[in-house]
Amino acid sequence: MTDVLTEQEEAVPFYPMERGGSCPFDPANQLAALAEEQPITKVRLWNGNHAWLVTRNADLRAAISDRRLSCDPRLPGFPHVTAFVETRRGDAPRTLIEMDFPEHTTYRRMLTKDFLYKRVEAMRPRIQEIVDGLIDRMLESTGPVDLVAEFALPVPSLVICELLGVPYDDHEFFQIRSNVLFARDATAEQAMKAFQELAVYLGGMMQKKAAQPGDDLTSRLVAEQLTTGAIGPDSLVAMLILLLTAGHETTANMISLSALTLLQHPEQMAQLRDKPEMVPDAVEELLRYLTVAQSGARRVATEDIEIGGHLVKAGEGVILAFDTANRDTSVFAEPEVFDIHRDDTGQHVAFGFGSHQCVGQQLARAELQIAVRTLVQRVPTLRLAQSVDSLQFRKDMAVYGVQELPVSW
Ligand code: HEM
Repeated sequence: MTDVLTEQEEAVPFYPMERGGSCPFDPANQLAALAEEQPITKVRLWNGNHAWLVTRNADLRAAISDRRLSCDPRLPGFPHVTAFVETRRGDAPRTLIEMDFPEHTTYRRMLTKDFLYKRVEAMRPRIQEIVDGLIDRMLESTGPVDLVAEFALPVPSLVICELLGVPYDDHEFFQIRSNVLFARDATAEQAMKAFQELAVYLGGMMQKKAAQPGDDLTSRLVAEQLTTGAIGPDSLVAMLILLLTAGHETTANMISLSALTLLQHPEQMAQLRDKPEMVPDAVEELLRYLTVAQSGARRVATEDIEIGGHLVKAGEGVILAFDTANRDTSVFAEPEVFDIHRDDTGQHVAFGFGSHQCVGQQLARAELQIAVRTLVQRVPTLRLAQSVDSLQFRKDMAVYGVQELPVSW
């Protein structure tokens, strides 16, 4: 990578673009303008490489479902999100998100049973208990409290720990490492160390589950897939790391930003309090409006392919931007407006689209619906204890969010 850019290079916009503007929930101004002007455009990445950025909803859906776009980070031209992902590409076991058909289908099938709608519905009473317990504890204090640390993070963390059979007492250990893995500016060494420490931890967990199985996903994967040889130990560790990290980074940030969004829209918050049956629709709108997966889906073309009227050549990287696709004016009326009554949220791609669409989406929906409904009903006087301007947003993370959210009631 050179420090001095040629004029031609400078003309290629850098991605990800810095968020700014007056609304912390909007994509970067420059990104929004690009999406308006060009459906697909070349961008420059952290390592100086170029990739195509796909910004429109219909193009994203068509391209992401096309098998000529590969998820394999080992292929030349892959638009790595960080130095770590690039460094790790060698022989390291890949996670689900980095596999193509048919390998991807085989591994994904190992998980689908546990994330089926019916299974997740059966988890609702326990999720409700977790949410109520955290709110009880919060209300015991006189406030203000940080809603991220006291509520938004522990909800998905407790849920994923129970699902995987990982002791919640260790949450600090894996939350710190998970944060490093999601930081765009973590060095390859830092991220590699975090990954390896998680791998050792989860490898030990797998051995414990082999000796003493419990009623949890890790035990089931060990018994049904590892011991039968369907998955190797390193690949299973990589799968567990993905579940543990993806399972709480995304949902935690959605919960805290959802609370902030509703506090910024008090009439809609009051409507949800009066009509809790509106919560599922409101959650879909929150997913669309906030689109926390702000680094988009990363792929590389294995053959020449046309996207949005442009020829993308074999070997070129492609980034499918969920945030602009969720603000596409040809799909959503006044997309910049947060409106829990809109009837077009079904078109959102906050969980991705196609075969890699989020495997944990039913679980995330259940957690978000219960967290939002319980918070607005049980803490009707909830308010921000600090001005929005003074909040620190996670602009430099693969998943958008707010660092701390001090609230009173
Ligand atoms: C609101 C919360 C969540 C959001 C916004 C979200 C978003 C996403 C997105 C956009 C993708 C697709 C990425 C791509 O195509 O490159 C994805 C995939 C995935 N998510 Fe989520 N996710 C959430 C919660 C969860 C939870 C709770 C879990 C697990 C417990 C989870 C596990 C996964 C896994 C394993 C994949 C890879 C699926 C595959 O490649 O087949 N996610 N998620």
